[in-house]
Amino acid sequence: MFADRVLSGMRPTGSLHLGHYHGVLKNWIKMQHETECLFFVADWHALTTHYDTPQVIEQSVWDMVVDWLAAGVDPAHATLFIQSKVPEHAELHLLLSMITPLGWLERMPTYKDQQEKLSGKDLSTYGFLGYPLLQSADILIYRATQVPVGEDQVPHIEFTREIARRFNHIYGREIGFEEKAEAAVKKLGGKKSKLYTELRVRYQEQGDDEALEAAKALLDEQQSLSHGDRERLFGYLEGGGKMILSEPQSMLTVASKMPGLDGQKMSKSYNNTISLREDEASVTKKIRTMPTDPARIRRTDAGDPERCPVWALHQVYSNEGIKDWAMQGCKSAGIGCIECKQPVIEAVLEEQRPMRERAQVYLDDPTLVRNIISDGCEKARKLASETMRDVREAMGLSYS
Ligand code: TRP
Ligand code: SF4
Repeated sequence: MFADRVLSGMRPTGSLHLGHYHGVLKNWIKMQHETECLFFVADWHALTTHYDTPQVIEQSVWDMVVDWLAAGVDPAHATLFIQSKVPEHAELHLLLSMITPLGWLERMPTYKDQQEKLSGKDLSTYGFLGYPLLQSADILIYRATQVPVGEDQVPHIEFTREIARRFNHIYGREIGFEEKAEAAVKKLGGKKSKLYTELRVRYQEQGDDEALEAAKALLDEQQSLSHGDRERLFGYLEGGGKMILSEPQSMLTVASKMPGLDGQKMSKSYNNTISLREDEASVTKKIRTMPTDPARIRRTDAGDPERCPVWALHQVYSNEGIKDWAMQGCKSAGIGCIECKQPVIEAVLEEQRPMRERAQVYLDDPTLVRNIISDGCEKARKLASETMRDVREAMGLSYS
């Protein structure tokens, strides 16, 4: 019923590092040229866990947007906005809460996991329990078709699908649905009516998924259908009633293998990161002082790259020629570790140079960033209010 739309959010809880770049942002940057994309700062989500340090969130919001822009997220292609500037998310969250079984939230794997991981914080709050539902509202309000997320978030997308289904089941029923749906089929006109009916029967009787896809494609092409008939015909295909909220797909972002300065995954909690726009001197120093194969005590000791975190960075940043040179040089003690690190240092600086340059423009003139966000928020609000109109109507809240 709806064209492809990608939506993803990020919590503003600290500055971004090269792990975020290789794991998430490169993927966003690629997608922005392929599909309509909405990317937002999930500041309310950050408050669910960082409710006692709002200053951290406030600072991170703008830093994070500058990081996105620096990395190459392009406001000419993607809509960038801040969750709390689109209060419709909160309204949908509230309305969905009416039909959300507590058990679904309590059984969410991230609920217990995060409570244990952040055991220093009291996370037995109403807001934290509702975290996945707020995320569902984020997604459903834009009728997003694809949501790029890491593996830990997949249950939240599955939960969102269940909420959408439950909502449509409860509120998509209308008196005389079948008759209205059949009347809408007729409106498609001779050949198309017949084709729709055939495809629907094939799907419902034989579970033929191709027939379902073909029928959806047929409906997508129909320009003249009213909004209500469109919801009916999509809903009628799969049974039930009107389809008011649409189920998103998760798009699994392959876990970033980006190694940190100690060879473990790059992560703030391991204190092994290089931040996205870190200054050159600091990057150089961090890599120069990285630990290497402990067997290479003296320059004349041969080493084994497999035991060295610098080698892991060569995998990300070096071509075959440099990797051969490092491998041979290490095993024969032909090169020293400082020498071996030099091409990595240069490659990281090279990667960051355009990011620092792009960021500088925004740091020099912060109103540019404010304007990008304010345009994005306005676009997002427009889309969100369209969905809210349908949701309110379905829930009997469109008094006039
Ligand atoms: N929960 C997500 C995370 O921690 C952030 C998020 C909030 C999000 N709302 C979203 C991601 C909607 C995708 C879609 O990474
Ligand atoms: Fe690591 Fe390179 Fe030193 Fe070998 S030469 S231990 S790969 S830094």
